[in-house]
Amino acid sequence: MAKAAKKVAKKRPAKKPARKMSYYFTVKDSVKVVQDRSGPKADKRVKYLTDTLVKHLHAFIKEARPSMNEWMYGINFLTRTGHLSTDWRQEFILLSDTLGVSMLVESLNHSKMSGETESTVLGPFYIANAPHYPNGANICLDGKGAPVWVHGRVLDSKRRPIPGAKLDVWQANEDGFYDVQQKGVQPDMNLRGVFESDDKGRYYFRSAYPKFYPIPYDGSVGDMLKALDRNPNRPAHLHFIVSAPGYETVTTHIFTPDCPWLKDDAVFGVKESLIADFKDVNDAKKAAELGMPNPFKSVEWNFVLSKEKK
Ligand code: BEZ
Ligand code: FE
Repeated sequence: MAKAAKKVAKKRPAKKPARKMSYYFTVKDSVKVVQDRSGPKADKRVKYLTDTLVKHLHAFIKEARPSMNEWMYGINFLTRTGHLSTDWRQEFILLSDTLGVSMLVESLNHSKMSGETESTVLGPFYIANAPHYPNGANICLDGKGAPVWVHGRVLDSKRRPIPGAKLDVWQANEDGFYDVQQKGVQPDMNLRGVFESDDKGRYYFRSAYPKFYPIPYDGSVGDMLKALDRNPNRPAHLHFIVSAPGYETVTTHIFTPDCPWLKDDAVFGVKESLIADFKDVNDAKKAAELGMPNPFKSVEWNFVLSKEKK
């Protein structure tokens, strides 16, 4: 009896039936027909990403059932988006931003576990060659806006100071424009600069209280926002990229707490942990000490970096 049982157990498993290829297009099999076209030498990751995209794109079409005219509108919309994209304007990134895709990719790739500074969108107005300044410098070159003292420390996840961290900062001016949007109107490199944390991890500089501003909405993305009755404004913020050897670089913002658009950011970039407390200071002695006019605003903001993943 035992011998017989052994024999049964040894039996070869039934052969998997060969996967049936789909050659001809049908609505029912549309996904499989497209996915089956890739060959044996297909790059695995590209195939995975494309197959997943096709699966969801076909599901969208089957659910939304666009008319031929609507499909052509979509094609023209994407064509216009491409034509508007240049070295100076990236309409496709704006599309990704306003559909919440940039924030989704960003958040899935940078989940923070132990109170490290959260990241948010980079946006199109960063430039890599901003001037390097010593701590305490004033980056507001047009003299507009309420003066702000920005200060804090760069720390590791155990809240120990990180000296020599680089803080790349940029923001819009009092009128809601970045310097690169107003060449010849604002001084070049207005409201941007690179600072380095000192031996105690401290950084500090002078700037202007930021203002909310609309994202560029005179193109295809603007048409979409108008058709959806959506707000084009971004709540007031300062941008930072904070980096240090051995740590993950964080691309982030500090938001002002009193902006009317905080809960309606056109690109979904607000995270509660990034809303700062800007204090009103009226203290002539302190102002003189810091080289600030009196009164002024002051914000203390610490950046917490996570260790670089190996
Ligand atoms: C920005 O904050 O600079 C920005 C981000 C996304 C789209 C447009 C502007
Ligand atoms: Fe911005």
